[in-house]
Amino acid sequence: MGALDGHRIVLGVTGGIAAYKAIEVCRRLVDAGAHVAPVMTGGAMRFVGRATFDALASETTQVSLWDEEHPVPHTRLGQGADLVVVCPATARLLADYRMGRSGDLLTATLMATRAPVVVCPAMHTEMWEQPAVQENVSVLAERGVTIVGPEHGRLAGGDVGAGRLADPVDILAAIDSILGSDGSTSGGDMAGLEVLVTAGGTREPICPVRYVGNRSSGKQGHALARAAAARGAKVRCVTTQPETAPDIIGVQVLAVETAAEMATAVLSNSATADIVLMAAAVADFRPVEVAGSKLKKADGTPEIMLEPTTDILAELGRNRSPGQVLVGFAAETDDLRQNATSKLESKGIDMIVANDVSASGVGFGHDTNAVLLLDRSGGATEVPLSEKHQVAAAVLDAALGCLHNARDAGGATGHGEDVNR
Ligand SMILES: Cc1cc2nc3c(=O)[nH]c(=O)nc-3n(C[C@H](O)[C@H](O)[C@H](O)COP(=O)(O)O)c2cc1C
Repeated sequence: MGALDGHRIVLGVTGGIAAYKAIEVCRRLVDAGAHVAPVMTGGAMRFVGRATFDALASETTQVSLWDEEHPVPHTRLGQGADLVVVCPATARLLADYRMGRSGDLLTATLMATRAPVVVCPAMHTEMWEQPAVQENVSVLAERGVTIVGPEHGRLAGGDVGAGRLADPVDILAAIDSILGSDGSTSGGDMAGLEVLVTAGGTREPICPVRYVGNRSSGKQGHALARAAAARGAKVRCVTTQPETAPDIIGVQVLAVETAAEMATAVLSNSATADIVLMAAAVADFRPVEVAGSKLKKADGTPEIMLEPTTDILAELGRNRSPGQVLVGFAAETDDLRQNATSKLESKGIDMIVANDVSASGVGFGHDTNAVLLLDRSGGATEVPLSEKHQVAAAVLDAALGCLHNARDAGGATGHGEDVNR
């Protein structure tokens, strides 16, 4: 069974350079079990051939209001769709859709549907930053359209900036979350939620050149931030790896380096968060003194005294807002379940995500991970070796479960009072 089994999806493709990436989205949708009906604009056909979509999709590609066998093609497509996704969406498409113009089959289909709509803009930075484009996107988002991307990155002609089509993985995650939930146009099952996520390993300076650090790459934390934003959450990502952090709408990146900076950023941004995901590898100790200049070999072997850093998770556990869900992470090399259980209990958190970083392909630096999720009500889920974005989806599902349980139990988990759980 695919995640999108039985869902009818209209895939609109418009005339941007990123049209070739819609082929990958089409394939992934079909692989996930969706029935995909492609609709291309004349502009799109200048970039990619319809034959590719014909071969990959579930029905023949439609390109015109006037050529299809069905007498009213836009209503057939629009009324029959469980979701319409436009990928990529040109500046022209955004403007026409916002204004309700229906001059071609794709915009007419958008007018003729009551299904949720996902729009994935892609264009050069100058175009993307135009006030008219920004306003069109804001109005569409206010009307309940899910906007995925764009990202910051390499664009056509070698330019770098905002405007690159969102990663197909994020587009699929957004579609998944809409069709996987109640099918409403809420823009994803995390719409309206605030998520605070930490990522990367902290660096504790010894001198201006050297530091005490760890192997964390930030990939899992960044995958969580991307996935939560794709599901509609407003995300703050406190990271030691800002250069690889998701540069997408919905994620605010806060760059830090040390455990102390991370503690300050987390504690001053946690009050309004519904879910806090502490995926960063925060140093437990830091040098008591930081040398003002580089330590030289000629000066002999230095003695470095260490002192404990702030225990951010425990601090959050003591001060959390009512109803807030706290998720800790544990990188272990032995006794995974036992160590994870004792951390879950000692920190006063709702859930722990534990991984055995000594296993092949797991944790630090890898694109894959395998985790054990434990929650306070005794729930345990094993996520086998998977891509980090898949692990992120499982972690968010479990965290949402904790949040819903907390809210069903009366809007607050008693976190405020039961500080030493
Ligand atoms: C080489 C080339 C690349 C283009 N890339 C984009 C793009 O990435 N995004 C965009 O909004 N428009 C882009 N355009 C402009 C659109 O193709 C143009 O606005 C067209 O009318 C859009 O048609 P459509 O929205 O009906 O597909 C590009 C044009 C050319 C010639």
